[in-house]
Amino acid sequence: MKTAAISRTKMAYVDEGQGVPVLLVHGFPLDHSMWDAQIAALSKSARVIAPDLRGFGKSSLAAGDGERGISMEAYADDLAELLDAIGVKEPIVLAGFSLGGYVAWQFVRKHGHRLRGLVQCDTRAVADNEESRAGRLKMAENIAEWGSGRVMEMMGPKLFAPATFEKKPEIVAAVRKVIETTPPPAIAAAQRGMAARPDVTAMLPHIIVPTLVLVGEHDAISSATEMKGIADAIPGAEYVVIPQAGHMTTMEEPEAVNAALARFVAAQVR
Ligand code: MLT
Repeated sequence: MKTAAISRTKMAYVDEGQGVPVLLVHGFPLDHSMWDAQIAALSKSARVIAPDLRGFGKSSLAAGDGERGISMEAYADDLAELLDAIGVKEPIVLAGFSLGGYVAWQFVRKHGHRLRGLVQCDTRAVADNEESRAGRLKMAENIAEWGSGRVMEMMGPKLFAPATFEKKPEIVAAVRKVIETTPPPAIAAAQRGMAARPDVTAMLPHIIVPTLVLVGEHDAISSATEMKGIADAIPGAEYVVIPQAGHMTTMEEPEAVNAALARFVAAQVR
């Protein structure tokens, strides 16, 4: 991986291939590796940039992030700074997954002029309800004591389609490994930020960039029905359901996700 110094952190990122820039933003509490199959496929015809968000993977937190939390807007600003730091001036295709999708909404809001296309994978537009918010804050408070492995115990059952546990245990193991090695302060920072994230539903009808909404058929975190509602609210958005996948579409059914992404990216190059 490469690293770039931006104002609040040293950001680690993969930068492979040439052509239209495609920025892939991972979910919680993961890192760029959830996009490995897409990096390999898309970098044959595009410049694929896949960072580790602040605190995750090989990117460091700034002092106080764990206690203060990192807003979705701040993560989005980090991404804009990363693009500046590595000299990406032309419009990008931005693909956000779950947490990465929450960040992508804020990127659209603040840095929308940098976009030629938006892909929202397995994510939500609404804010948390009181129960989820309380759960996030409880995790933020206790994660140092619990250890990161507890997050896999809590989230694991919701991350994959039932068949994935049986037929593709190596994918479950790979995700477990990433979660177990995520530093507790990064988990606390992201949970506080997600708990405070705004409802962006009112913004959806005003999104003018070409958009693809993609979801796993069995996603138990951001359901296909909910994502269909997001696609319906964004003018002209395309909606793709990935059969047999749960939340972790990019890893559970990489070929189907690659095909949808490659087609969408190609359509944005004129
Ligand atoms: C993710 O995959 O990024 C998480 O499920 C997001 C969340 O906790 O809302």
